[in-house]
Amino acid sequence: MTPRHFLEVDDLSPRELLDVLDYSEKSVSHFLTGRGVAMIFEKPSLRTRNSTEMAVVQLGGHPVYIQNDEITLDVRECTEDAIRVLQGYYSIICARVFKHQQLERMAAVADVPIVNLLSDEGHPAQALADLLTIRQCLGDVAGLQMTWVGDFSNVAFSLGLGLAMLGASTVYSCPNGYGPTEQSLDRIRRAATGTATVGVDPHPSSAVVGSHIVSTDAWYSMGQEAEKEVRKRAFEGFRVDASMMTGALPGAIFLHCLPAHRGEEVTDEVIDSAQSKVFPQAHNRMHTMRGLFAWFHAQGSIPRNAEVAP
Ligand code: CP
Ligand code: NVA
Repeated sequence: MTPRHFLEVDDLSPRELLDVLDYSEKSVSHFLTGRGVAMIFEKPSLRTRNSTEMAVVQLGGHPVYIQNDEITLDVRECTEDAIRVLQGYYSIICARVFKHQQLERMAAVADVPIVNLLSDEGHPAQALADLLTIRQCLGDVAGLQMTWVGDFSNVAFSLGLGLAMLGASTVYSCPNGYGPTEQSLDRIRRAATGTATVGVDPHPSSAVVGSHIVSTDAWYSMGQEAEKEVRKRAFEGFRVDASMMTGALPGAIFLHCLPAHRGEEVTDEVIDSAQSKVFPQAHNRMHTMRGLFAWFHAQGSIPRNAEVAP
């Protein structure tokens, strides 16, 4: 059977996405006993590495963290050969990469599921946790509205896409030159169900009006550190503060994938407020990874690799 991969949220149907969220809240069975999950990281991580490792442990499996200096994709050997080797040992291969194309090349040769743990284009594993947090805090996702303030990052794309698939709308409020491309907006629109819309409003104060969720990300992502000073100037006015939050609906929640640069994209007052759900959101990273792996298992995507010699 050809395995399913998870390179972006829309690799799932809306029904499958809801199934993954449901699995995330179900009790655990040890279907990974005797099996391994490889995690390749070209960039650093706190949440993704630890939550994925512990999700695998909870499922009875063995996670192996592979740092980039050990594997150096396309330097020591080509990405395709590395995957052809690893899939003989592991039942799932997860990767955090600089270039999304690396994940596509992995998926093209893999006979085990490939999971995106963040690329330059998207962070769908984060979106799963965000959607679960929204559902736990606000109930049914359909009909909700999120305002995304700041950088149209990998997280901004995957979360807007996931929300649209579940019938929720997004308004992106980004500085000129740092907003969504037409191509990204089109992909979100194509995935939308129900009454979901996606739009842009460069003024955060009007963009937050009517929103149930306000979310942001760092002004400079991993790999963009050289642009830090230029970006800090461009994003002034896009800091989520208490006055911006009062423009959203009463009961609106604040989300951030973390790590946060406190005082830059968000004030201490907001991130430490009762409206902020950033720590349950971070903890849901583990539950949703377990949910994703359980969904792979339920629909037969995890082969029993490497258990007997062929
Ligand atoms: N949110 C997130 O992916 O955090 P890490 O970079 O620490 O994994
Ligand atoms: N946009 C951020 C997310 C970190 C989890 C980055 O890519 O660095």
